[in-house]
Order: sequence, then C-alpha cells, then structure tokens
Amino acid sequence: MRLRHKPWALDYMKEQSSIYIADPSTLKGNWSSEFKNTNPIFIEVGSGKGAFITGMAKQYPDVNFIAIELFESVAVTIVQKMVEEPLENVRVLTVDAKDLRDFFKEGEVARVYLNFSDPWPKSRHAKRRLTYKTFLATYEEILPKNGQIHFKTDNRKLFESSLMTMSAYGMTFDWMSLDLHANEPENNVRTEYEERFSALGQPIYRMEATYTN
Ligand SMILES: C[S@@+](CC[C@H](N)C(=O)[O-])C[C@H]1O[C@@H](n2cnc3c(N)ncnc32)[C@H](O)[C@@H]1O
Repeated sequence: MRLRHKPWALDYMKEQSSIYIADPSTLKGNWSSEFKNTNPIFIEVGSGKGAFITGMAKQYPDVNFIAIELFESVAVTIVQKMVEEPLENVRVLTVDAKDLRDFFKEGEVARVYLNFSDPWPKSRHAKRRLTYKTFLATYEEILPKNGQIHFKTDNRKLFESSLMTMSAYGMTFDWMSLDLHANEPENNVRTEYEERFSALGQPIYRMEATYTN
C-alpha cells in the first residue's frame, strides 16, 4: 500500500475515543465491557482503509469487529469513515499483529480475517508474511479451540505458501476457491484491494482454515 504520511492522524484518532482504542492492552480480557455486549469478536489483521470491516459490521450487527492496522496514516481513513457513518460494533487499533497476545486473552477472539496481506515474495522475508508459523501461533493463542482464519488474496504465491504453512501447522481447510468472483457468494464483502485486482481481471483466492488443536 502506498503510504502518504499524515502527521495529524494520531491526534485525530485519539479524539475519537469511541472508535479508536489508543491503549488496547488495558482491555485485554475485557473487550465485552468496551462493546457493552458479549457478542463474538472478529478481528481483521491488516485492515487497510477498512472497506471490509465496515461492510462486515453493517452486514453482521451482532458481531463485534476490530480492525488491526499497523499504520496510523492508513487506519485514520477507517476512523474518518466511522465519524461520517457511525458503527457501534467496530473499533480500530494501530498495533502490530505480532503483539496481538498483549491485547487479547486466550480465546477472546472468535475469528481472524486476513485480506490481501502483504505478499513478501522474497524467501528471505517469509517470516514477515502474516501466515508464517509464528503469526499462526499468535492467532491460535487468542482464538478458541478449533478457531478459524478466513483468508483472501490475489497473490497465488502467497496463497500457496499460506496453504503450506497452515497445513504444516496442522490446520485443515473447510472452504476454498481459486476464483472467488467466478461464483461470488452473496455475502462476500469486497476489500479495497479485492476491488482493484478484480477490476484488472485477476482471480481472487479464498480459504477458510481451522486449527485442529
Ligand atoms: C496490502 S494491504 C491490504 C489492505 C486491505 N486488507 C485490503 O484488502 O484492501 C495490507 C495491509 O496490512 C497492513 N499490515 C501489514 N503488516 C501488518 C502487521 N504486522 N500488523 C498489522 N497490520 C499490518 C499494512 O499496513 C496494509 O495496510
């Protein structure tokens, strides 16, 4: 993602404390108090500008959604969208996925979404892929037993390497498509990248993977 630095982003987000959680470690084990309900919590790791998470939140009002985005200059767009159109069931965090254990207790997250994660094509960068085994171990800890990752990408090589790391981790695959838009499920919520790559005629790959712990 091309990143335009927005030095005002953090101050702006901090003013929107009903949307942006500046210190999420204070809510570890206590997210239900933040949402004021006990609905399941789904997180999207690498939310970008938030088309997916806001679309999902509208489609599933009885689910709580948390956007995890590394960069403030990107996440601020999600916050701006929600200032214009408030959604009670979405919160935004600017944290690194590798630290998720600091913000969620075991089993506190009901599902993890990964959409169009950075592919890191060079093998020496494989450890940075969000489906590398260390990330899989982090998600496993915050998910319940037999938790799921739902994953979409346009990148065939990332899809294949993710199948391999997940399979080696002992995960099973319950749903898979090598061309999601050829027969697009009615409830599919497209992400920004998904729209972009689909418009270029590229197939979109999708899978649902389950931990067998
Ligand atoms: C290629 S973009 C895709 C954005 C969006 N999911 C979509 O499909 O349109 C990947 C996003 O993941 C974020 N990201 C990458 N590594 C991350 C990490 N370790 N923790 C949180 N976010 C991360 C990037 O900043 C970027 O916004």
